[in-house]
Amino acid sequence: MRKNIVAGNWKMNKALEEGNSLASEIVNIVANEVKDDTIVVLNPPYIHLSSVQHLLKDAKQVFLGAQNCNENTSGAYTGEISVDMLKSVGVEYVILGHSERREYYKESNELLAKKVNTVLDNGLIPIFCCGESLKIREAGTHVDFVCNQLTDSLFHLSPEKFEKVVIAYEPIWAIGTGVTASTDQAQEMHAELRKHLASKYGDTIADETTILYGGSCKPDNAKELFANPDVDGGLIGGASLKSRDFVEIVKSF
Ligand code: 13P
Repeated sequence: MRKNIVAGNWKMNKALEEGNSLASEIVNIVANEVKDDTIVVLNPPYIHLSSVQHLLKDAKQVFLGAQNCNENTSGAYTGEISVDMLKSVGVEYVILGHSERREYYKESNELLAKKVNTVLDNGLIPIFCCGESLKIREAGTHVDFVCNQLTDSLFHLSPEKFEKVVIAYEPIWAIGTGVTASTDQAQEMHAELRKHLASKYGDTIADETTILYGGSCKPDNAKELFANPDVDGGLIGGASLKSRDFVEIVKSF
């Protein structure tokens, strides 16, 4: 079902005590100030998941997410984290295919299709990231490029499985740069993605899919971005590291 979601991607930031403080502050402010129908997902680094989970225990609308997972369910994969481990510490969402993982760790659409399967088969919710580089946008092929990312990594899914997926459109040129996609650029791409989903899964499922925007989303531009009919919330990097900024974004619906 289509939902209003704001997810914070802490990336590789915050030592344990800092992470705990950030999570507790967010939980407290959300409980007092945020509408019940908005879902908040915190995605701290792996080693903070367990302690952050304890802080979320009584938070009705704040959920725990991971930033990645391995495509295999167990075995000799030194340094990797499995979905079972994530589930055992209360994780419900998993970010997959972030552009930083695609770029620095060479994650391909094919590998991401496997990760999507592993996450869904084990009852977790993928937040599947897609987005184009500046070069691709300037060449005018951004819509095809991003639609292709969805085709290659998601379109093997049955409709029942696909319905669980959350999509996050994050243009690479807007991530951490201070340059946000304009509301028109965000709406245009989100509408194109929904049209593409409809071509595979039909209008009803496409309409029910939650599509988040990510890339320099801040308290002062979130309202305008979230007001677009096809933008259902945000995946937030830098601004998710400050409790007040993050919650102001959460309150922007
Ligand atoms: P910024 O909000 O820092 O641009 O990062 C966006 C992002 O990559 C979230 O996953």
